[in-house]
Amino acid sequence: MRSIKPLVILLAILLISVVLVSCADQPAASEVSEYELTDAARDCIECHATETHGIVADWDSSRHAEEGISCIDCHQVDPDSPMALSGVEGHEDLEVAVSMLIPPSVCAECHEDQVAEFNASGHYRAHIQLIPKAGLTALVEVHEGQNHPEFNTASDETGCMLCHGTDIIVDETGHPTAETYPVQGIGNVYPNGEIGNCAVCHTRHAFEKAEARKPQACASCHLGPDHPDIEIYENTKHGQIYDTEGGDWVWDSAYGEWEPGDYRAPTCATCHMSGIGDLAPTHNVNQRLYWNLWTPESKVRDSDDVMSPLLGDGEAGRVEMMEVCSACHSSSHTAGYFDSGDKAVKLYNEAYWTPIEAMRVELAEAGLLKENPWNDEFQILHYYIWHHEGRRARQGAMMGAPDWAHWHGFFQLQQKLYRATEIYELRLENGSIEQFGTYVDKDE
Ligand code: HEC
Ligand code: HEC
Ligand code: HEC
Ligand code: HEC
Ligand code: HEC
Ligand code: HEC
Ligand code: HEC
Ligand code: HEC
Repeated sequence: MRSIKPLVILLAILLISVVLVSCADQPAASEVSEYELTDAARDCIECHATETHGIVADWDSSRHAEEGISCIDCHQVDPDSPMALSGVEGHEDLEVAVSMLIPPSVCAECHEDQVAEFNASGHYRAHIQLIPKAGLTALVEVHEGQNHPEFNTASDETGCMLCHGTDIIVDETGHPTAETYPVQGIGNVYPNGEIGNCAVCHTRHAFEKAEARKPQACASCHLGPDHPDIEIYENTKHGQIYDTEGGDWVWDSAYGEWEPGDYRAPTCATCHMSGIGDLAPTHNVNQRLYWNLWTPESKVRDSDDVMSPLLGDGEAGRVEMMEVCSACHSSSHTAGYFDSGDKAVKLYNEAYWTPIEAMRVELAEAGLLKENPWNDEFQILHYYIWHHEGRRARQGAMMGAPDWAHWHGFFQLQQKLYRATEIYELRLENGSIEQFGTYVDKDE
């Protein structure tokens, strides 16, 4: 009897290995049979289950798979489209044309409202608003890119465009060029002229609302010295509660039915997008805003032009935002909160932006600004005051983050204003620009 055991074990190991090897060959194909799919749709999945296993696994776990919506429903295009692919090894026998780029109109076939709301928001213009701004192109190509003959667009390709998006250019095979792809920006412009990106908050190919409800969905873009929204959130009581227990919350409630009780504290999505109480969900992130908090001077939003910095209806936005709070706080708590926040925004406008801008205008008229703003201590301080510290103070104050309102905000603001005032006075006194002293900020 004893001598049989090793043989049984050997046989068992052999059997398991055979099963494992065959699973590795066809990782998801066996599951595909559960879904209602046409033969053409099934072909894409079965081949891609080995070619790009990760994509099929993500799709397989999605609501789209449950609904029988698969590769072909999003990727098939008109054969005449500039985005129709040719020359893909593996696609020789395909009977339909496919594209690797998916503009929002594809999603709109089934999700019309979300696309319309997105198109009315500031996210829509994220790339196109950059095109007319010559100063920004100069910053990227002349200064950051040092006019390098080959590499002067590198900081755009690895920076700006990965948040803002770009004009995606395709070659004659329908493939996007290396300079314009891959790109996960929110305001991409597709070769057919369409604008937007529906796969930045709920990423492909899982496309989950649960993912987009978490603060990390916004964090790949809303961070850093000039709009530290994720850091601000982590500094609030809400962020603290999310960090300690968010893993246990209910994230997948139906659209418009994700309510306090599923979670104890709001995330970015709760305040800016999700339905709560009587408020309907929206993909227009401008709808609940009052101020503009990123412009040099904050003003109340009052425009329906999607290219305007004041896009939104500030008064209506404030009412909606206060309705969010009222699901969990009393009205006096909420009123007191916004009273202090608004005071901070007005302080920034009057005590920082007004004087620094007046000094800049006076120096410009006296010919006392350098031509290169990025090598002029006064102009760099002017920039930091509105673009970095000033945004941190305003956004920190309006979103309840004391460290950002104060230490990274107003404390830094007064330091920069004193230094800028000194340079301004020196220039007027001497009638010339000081020789040394380009500002290097150790805090940035
Ligand atoms: C017989 C296998 C096979 C079938 C069937 C197939 N594909 Fe592919 N597909 C491939 C291979 C191989 C690649 C190239 C992967 C690479 O470049 O790494 C590819 C690439 C792609 C790409 C990216 C294009 C590129 O050049 O990078 C997309 C999008 C795509 N397939 C979608 C589809 C869709 C949609 C279907 C069904 C209509 C489909 N595929 C059917 C094998 C297949
Ligand atoms: C709900 C729509 C949808 C479905 C279903 C879908 N895709 Fe995609 N796919 C996208 C979007 C959106 C992108 C990103 C396109 C862009 O950058 O414009 C993408 C990109 C891709 C890419 C190129 C990017 C990369 O990571 O290589 C491939 C390949 C691809 N999909 C294959 C598939 C396959 C295979 C399936 C089926 C298992 C599938 N897709 C199902 C929407 C979809
Ligand atoms: C892929 C990058 C990216 C992601 C992810 C992203 N945003 Fe944005 N967001 C931007 C950019 C870029 C802008 C600036 C758009 C402009 O005005 O040109 C912006 C602007 C905004 C604005 C201000 C709009 C205005 O008109 O002033 C709000 C509010 C906002 N985002 C909220 C969110 C929230 C909430 C999330 C997550 C649920 C999120 N964003 C996810 C890139 C992103
Ligand atoms: C990490 C992501 C990210 C990068 C990189 C980035 N931005 Fe932004 N940008 C944003 C976000 C988010 C906003 C919204 C700011 C806010 O609400 O405070 C924004 C706002 C702006 C705005 C104001 C929006 C408007 O409608 O006028 C401009 C202009 C801008 N960015 C230009 C640039 C340029 C140029 C670069 C590269 C040199 C760049 N950004 C790099 C995320 C980014
Ligand atoms: C700024 C982040 C962001 C972007 C960009 C975004 N979404 Fe969403 N999306 C969300 C959030 C957050 C939810 C969940 C809202 C809630 O809590 O109910 C959601 C939910 C959805 C749902 C679920 C609706 C349902 O009935 O279950 C669909 C569909 C959807 N989005 C489609 C889109 C489309 C199409 C686009 C492109 C125009 C898009 N999304 C762009 C954040 C985003
Ligand atoms: C052919 C129809 C169809 C297309 C095209 C389509 N979807 Fe969907 N989508 C559905 C259906 C059906 C559901 C499930 C019902 C629902 O939640 O509305 C769904 C659900 C979703 C959800 C919610 C998933 C969840 O967690 O509950 C998101 C997010 C989403 N889709 C995003 C997209 C995006 C982004 C695109 C384009 C890249 C897209 N869809 C293209 C039909 C489609
Ligand atoms: C408790 C609710 C709440 C949460 C959570 C929250 N915000 Fe905000 N957010 C606000 C309020 C209130 C304002 C200021 C609105 C006003 O009065 O103009 C604001 C302003 C903003 C702005 C400034 C828009 C501009 O004009 O420059 C951005 C961008 C933004 N939030 C993004 C985010 C992101 C990203 C997250 C998560 C990391 C987040 N918010 C979390 C309530 C919230
Ligand atoms: C889902 C419920 C929920 C929503 C919605 C919500 N909060 Fe809170 N909030 C909480 C909880 C829970 C705490 C922690 C209470 C504590 O510290 O004991 C908190 C704490 C705070 C605090 C810290 C001071 C304090 O009383 O503890 C402020 C300020 C605050 N919230 C403001 C807001 C504002 C402004 C809004 C709307 C823009 C809002 N909250 C929306 C649940 C919520």
